[in-house]
Amino acid sequence: MSMADAHREADRAALDAWMEVPVVDLIRHLMEHYHWETRHGMAELENLVEEAALMEGHHFPELLAIRDEVDLFCREMRDHLRMEEATLFPAILAKEQGRAFQMDKEIMEPLELFEDEHNAAAGLLVRIHKLTEGFQPPESAQALQRRLYHAFEVLADSLMQHIYLENEVLFKRVL
Ligand SMILES: [Fe+2]
Ligand SMILES: [Fe+2]
Repeated sequence: MSMADAHREADRAALDAWMEVPVVDLIRHLMEHYHWETRHGMAELENLVEEAALMEGHHFPELLAIRDEVDLFCREMRDHLRMEEATLFPAILAKEQGRAFQMDKEIMEPLELFEDEHNAAAGLLVRIHKLTEGFQPPESAQALQRRLYHAFEVLADSLMQHIYLENEVLFKRVL
């Protein structure tokens, strides 16, 4: 087993441990850690990509394509976070806390919808991953572009864990 595989397995085990934690605490963790980190990461990405496209876009035209992908990604992701916070999480919390809850049937279909959105978000990240050749800045890239690629890597890593926790832990538990 390579080092990277060992790390991945350790990460997976840490995420799976949330199977045993009360659902309310899992949702709090998703909010306080992942939703916060995603919003913070997107704001940083948007600032970096705008500046990099402006200052370096004439040397590296792919920065312009990357900016468009970031734009789309952030727009869709903000809607997605808001949907979870406004509809899905409140419904799950109400159910967990035994409060009146009349969307038992309706919540099952949105779960698939949320999974579809997770796939779309992951797909966009894959496109950005390709455009940046695996988040590897070109040899001659300036500091700004390097920071941008690093910000991608950090956000992609956070998002993969976030999606796993929702698809494989939270959704499995509320079904
Ligand atoms: Fe989420
Ligand atoms: Fe999500």
